[in-house]
Amino acid sequence: MNSSKTLLLQIVIFSIFFSSGSISNPTLASADSSEEFVDCLSKESKIPSWLVHTTSSSSYTSILKSSIRNPKFLNTTASAEPVCIVTPSETSHIQAAVVCGRRHGLRVRVRSGGHDYEGLSYRAEDRGERFAVVDLSGMRSVSVDAASGTAWVQSGATLGELYHAVWRHDPRLGFQAGVCPTVGVGGHFSGGGFGMLQRKYGLAVDHVVNATLVDARGDLLDRDSMGEDLFWAIRGGGGESFGIVVSWHIKLAPVPPIVTVFDIVRSPDHGAIDILTKWQEIAPKLPDDIMVRVIIEPQNVNFEAMYLGTCDELLPLMHLRFPDLAMNRTDCNEMTWIESIPYIHLGRNATVDDILNRTSISRVNTKNRSDYVRDPIPNHIWKKIFAMSQQVTKFGEFQMYMDPYGGKISSIHESATPFPHREGVLYNIQYITYWQGEANGTEALKWSRDLYEFMEPYVSKNPREAYVNYRDLELGRNKLVDGISSYDSGKAWGKRYFRDNFERLAKVKAKVDPDDYFRNEQSIPPLLN
Ligand SMILES: Cc1cc2nc3c(=O)[nH]c(=O)nc-3n(C[C@H](O)[C@H](O)[C@H](O)COP(=O)(O)OP(=O)(O)OC[C@H]3O[C@@H](n4cnc5c(N)ncnc54)[C@H](O)[C@@H]3O)c2cc1C
Ligand SMILES: *[C@@H]1O[C@H](CO)[C@@H](O)[C@H](O)[C@H]1NC(C)=O
Ligand SMILES: *[C@@H]1O[C@H](CO)[C@@H](O)[C@H](O)[C@H]1NC(C)=O
Ligand SMILES: *[C@@H]1O[C@H](CO)[C@@H](O)[C@H](O)[C@H]1NC(C)=O
Ligand SMILES: *[C@@H]1O[C@H](CO)[C@@H](O)[C@H](O)[C@H]1NC(C)=O
Ligand SMILES: *[C@@H]1O[C@H](CO)[C@@H](O)[C@H](O)[C@H]1NC(C)=O
Ligand SMILES: *[C@@H]1O[C@H](CO)[C@@H](O)[C@H](O)[C@H]1NC(C)=O
Ligand SMILES: *[C@@H]1O[C@H](CO)[C@@H](O)[C@H](O)[C@H]1NC(C)=O
Repeated sequence: MNSSKTLLLQIVIFSIFFSSGSISNPTLASADSSEEFVDCLSKESKIPSWLVHTTSSSSYTSILKSSIRNPKFLNTTASAEPVCIVTPSETSHIQAAVVCGRRHGLRVRVRSGGHDYEGLSYRAEDRGERFAVVDLSGMRSVSVDAASGTAWVQSGATLGELYHAVWRHDPRLGFQAGVCPTVGVGGHFSGGGFGMLQRKYGLAVDHVVNATLVDARGDLLDRDSMGEDLFWAIRGGGGESFGIVVSWHIKLAPVPPIVTVFDIVRSPDHGAIDILTKWQEIAPKLPDDIMVRVIIEPQNVNFEAMYLGTCDELLPLMHLRFPDLAMNRTDCNEMTWIESIPYIHLGRNATVDDILNRTSISRVNTKNRSDYVRDPIPNHIWKKIFAMSQQVTKFGEFQMYMDPYGGKISSIHESATPFPHREGVLYNIQYITYWQGEANGTEALKWSRDLYEFMEPYVSKNPREAYVNYRDLELGRNKLVDGISSYDSGKAWGKRYFRDNFERLAKVKAKVDPDDYFRNEQSIPPLLN
């Protein structure tokens, strides 16, 4: 089932050596204002000193590294790292970090699970940038109210912790969010959040009914006090821009006692490209209870599916609707919904408790990009894509994940949340290029750009859409005008993530954070008028 795991195992494991010298960057930190910030935290807000890690603390490097996923971001020669990391254990600590940060001219970046594809929750592209990180990994409680079928989950929880807690309270309940259990709730919900239940239930944020947030003044707000505009913006408008979301109130969803999972592998030499061409139009129109996604590798096409029901129910459905896949009974793996989480992401021998493991350091570098497809890609183009993908063996590996839309995710109006990729989308593509070694990195990035350029005529246009949770700085980054991120520079990437919702997001930003205190390379710029 788990092709990404096997791929990672195939790649030769290499060691990364850390020295505290390469992580800390004292020359750029103005010792004064970070000292004042730290002073402020302890004096005015009584944050215990063990929750504050400066570059001279012995805990600094291990805390910084704790949720860095991509080895390329461990090399801090090219980017700035935080002058201080705060690991709050209470909401008042988060408020203090914002109040003290503003008082002493230090920005904060917030990190929940640390899975940002560009590492923006703990690094800045501009080496001159000074900032502290508020790391929420210590605030990860999940309280489930099985009677009302809802839960409050704190941002620092991982998806695995959320799924596990829900299952423990009531195995008849589940939640629709991402596939990878180590992803953080804070960043994931901030960008939408989709996974194997998206066709049945939509996005994670489609089921958020309340939230608590620390705003740019350090005030703690909930749905009623933040107002509907801000509540709209935080449900998919991207992380960091509007404040620090402390917790989310979510409506859980029923899951059946048995789900069926399959992983059917076909090779391009044996008809896979024809099946794939048909998949594009079949998968988005199947009943909502089934999601058949595709993972392409240079030698294989994997059709991975989850069906909310038994094999006996699934077989006739597949034979009727997707006969070319030639699925049969031996492909079926029946299990409970919670068992499907480790099974799909960690491999068939993983246990339910394995989804509680937060360790997720990967040994390979990756560059990921995304696209949306609204018209099927012709068969002869797929042949070219496979031919191109053979070149990656020179420097690494390649995968293309394709998640079919249709069903619930597409039925919600494009402006109901900031996430605009709804009606008319056939599927999402994620391109993943893997490599090791610096020389290979140059080639890998060039190849990734060439492929992206090649795909342009065949994917969504005006704008060419992308998923904000698959963050990609090659789409553009903010430029500052008079010290504030400019709306015009933001449009380059903002329209692609949010289409027409970008303007409304920028207006909300102007209302709640006109000074642009919460910002990064791709935060929503304030549209002041
Ligand atoms: C292995 C892997 C698998 C993935 N699988 C899926 C998937 O199946 N479906 C899917 O939709 N996505 C998936 N993603 C993408 C994932 O949803 C995003 O990377 C997400 O932003 C990660 O959230 P985080 O909290 O772990 O990251 P972080 O790096 O902590 O945060 C991401 C961004 O959000 C901001 N942020 C974090 N916490 C908060 C907060 N509490 N309040 C405000 N802003 C905040 C950060 O500053 C940063 O800008 C996957 C990513 C990886 C690496
Ligand atoms: C780190 O990045 C810098 C600048 O891009 C580069 O010169 C250096 O070789 C890198 N170091 C490692 C160990 O990759
Ligand atoms: C790209 O996606 C893969 C698969 O989800 C993930 O393992 C990897 O960490 C991602 N890349 C980055 C830079 O986060
Ligand atoms: C949101 O949560 C807060 C804090 O628990 C609560 O006081 C408020 O009534 C809730 N609002 C809604 C609309 O649920
Ligand atoms: C069922 O599919 C498997 C794997 O695709 C194949 O090996 C097997 O021969 C098939 N069985 C039947 C009865 O078609
Ligand atoms: C799963 O466990 C079985 C029995 O211990 C072993 O034979 C098999 O190789 C394992 N499979 C994987 C994918 O690790
Ligand atoms: C968590 O996962 C990591 C990486 O796979 C592994 O090394 C570690 O032993 C696991 N921890 C536990 C407690 O299982
Ligand atoms: C570059 O990639 C090739 C092919 O995958 C591999 O053999 C080689 O070891 C890689 N180089 C480095 C420095 O990792």
